Amino acid sequence: MKKRIAVYPGSFDPIHHGHLDLIQRSRPLFDELHVAVLENEGKKSLFTVAERVEMIRELLCEHEDCQVDSFSGLLVDFMDEVGAKAVVRGLRAVSDFEVEFQMALMNRKLNPKVETVFMMPKADLTYVSSRLIKEVCGLGGDLSSLLPDIIWKKLQARLDTRSSDE
Ligand code: PNS
Repeated sequence: MKKRIAVYPGSFDPIHHGHLDLIQRSRPLFDELHVAVLENEGKKSLFTVAERVEMIRELLCEHEDCQVDSFSGLLVDFMDEVGAKAVVRGLRAVSDFEVEFQMALMNRKLNPKVETVFMMPKADLTYVSSRLIKEVCGLGGDLSSLLPDIIWKKLQARLDTRSSDE
């Protein structure tokens, strides 16, 4: 039987428990899951792509069934490279729907064989986003419960160096 291969793409700047919950839920549904960090020169990020890949690798013991990569360009081209037919995306709230709906249909336009699988994270993580985590932690808020320990420490260290540079 053909392998069911999926890609979970994102910025993951940084990865948090909401992302990890989604990875845990989607992993058993596919023979192979590629967590793929977008290399986006245009978007200002706190961590480099290499750092983000490394952080995710530290958290997920990579096996044949779960790999961490980065990609540039079109998602559908990366999916072709790894032989994936499904995109996994999280839907936290209705506000996510519109943009996700557009992305799913655009990816289908680019490759009609690509399907997007939407998954809901654990209810108590639906308000969590990397953007808000960076904003709140940058202002001194303690969100350590929303991130794995190693990521929380790296985030604190990065925010500290940032503020001492300013
Ligand atoms: O975590 P994010 O920032 O919401 O992830 C967005 C991502 C990486 C899924 C999206 O920007 C993407 O797939 N970019 C690759 C470029 C592409 O293929 N664009 C066309 C699909 S709309």
